[in-house]
Amino acid sequence: MHQTVLLLALILTYSVPVISQNVTITAPSGVFYSPNYPSDYDNNIKMTYNITVPEDHYIYLTLMDFVTEAYFDVLTIYDGGNSTPTYILSGDCTGQNYALSSNTAIFEFTTDLTGTAKGFAIQFDAIEMNASYIISDTCPPPLYNSDKGFVTRLSGDPSNLTPIVTTGSVMYINFVTDLVNTASGFSAFYQSIQ
Ligand SMILES: *[C@@H]1O[C@H](CO)[C@@H](O)[C@H](O)[C@H]1NC(C)=O
Ligand SMILES: *[C@@H]1O[C@H](CO)[C@@H](O)[C@H](O)[C@H]1NC(C)=O
Ligand SMILES: *[C@@H]1O[C@H](CO)[C@@H](O)[C@H](O)[C@H]1NC(C)=O
Repeated sequence: MHQTVLLLALILTYSVPVISQNVTITAPSGVFYSPNYPSDYDNNIKMTYNITVPEDHYIYLTLMDFVTEAYFDVLTIYDGGNSTPTYILSGDCTGQNYALSSNTAIFEFTTDLTGTAKGFAIQFDAIEMNASYIISDTCPPPLYNSDKGFVTRLSGDPSNLTPIVTTGSVMYINFVTDLVNTASGFSAFYQSIQ
């Protein structure tokens, strides 16, 4: 009898997710992450992300990083308040893109009792209805003034790069990267001019 009660208690304890959280995001674009990212997510969690972009837009998803325990740790996407899943994602889905049909979606991330992985970093963008997604130009215009003098910012693949000429004998190079995705980076040649 005692054993039965104990067993029941154990089952009840384990069936309730240890972490259950609702996250609401209202923005035209952004990135949302699994808990602890880029460290592994926890077992036995249920996260709900409610994402809303401006009206007359739809949500476009880029899975910048997505690794979960295949079949057991699952991200379910409900497009536009539907009660049936639009996409069910699990395993390695890094790099995939999904165009939803409406400006709001619910993302439910549930994990089982064992096995974890890095989880996900998902970029969402608001795209005008009937328009298609175009990758934004990440190379900003050259030269603006900062507290260190004139600065140029480079990102993406600046293939038509003209030489950068400084006004003094010192040049600072500041290289900043975000939490996800890497690339081969850069090599640069410098010389002094009298
Ligand atoms: C999250 O939202 C669902 C549905 O609205 C609700 O049932 C649940 O209690 C909420 N969980 C938390 C932790 O607020
Ligand atoms: C999601 O968030 C939006 C905006 O805050 C809200 O109108 C909507 O009711 C939420 N949906 C759910 C299922 O909680
Ligand atoms: C998108 O296209 C459909 C069919 O051509 C049209 O009925 C609808 O009004 C358009 N929506 C917007 C926001 O332009």
